[in-house]
Amino acid sequence: MVKVTFIEQDGTRREIEAREGEPLMYAAKEAGIDGIIAECGGAAMCATCHSYLIEAPNGPLPEPEPAEADTIEFNAHEPRENSRLPCQIIVTPAVEGAVFQVATGR
Ligand code: FES
Repeated sequence: MVKVTFIEQDGTRREIEAREGEPLMYAAKEAGIDGIIAECGGAAMCATCHSYLIEAPNGPLPEPEPAEADTIEFNAHEPRENSRLPCQIIVTPAVEGAVFQVATGR
């Protein structure tokens, strides 16, 4: 299991455990992270899993694929340079210790 922290919209920090090989969104949903809605079920369409990657202690995560980048640009509320869709991040050991801030406004 890979440990990842999500900071919820009210500032609560929650460390969760995620299974390798699965989209990070699954673990966030299972843990009930507030603000991770995932309306599209992980199809990179809804942006209701939009989060900001604020720490990646093992080095940068792989860049977003075009589907993720486009959804962030066109559907996410207040996209930033560090915007990511956790449904498009496959959990690997490189994700260990990463910290995501759940984006506000849906
Ligand atoms: S769950 Fe819909 S974009 Fe991530």
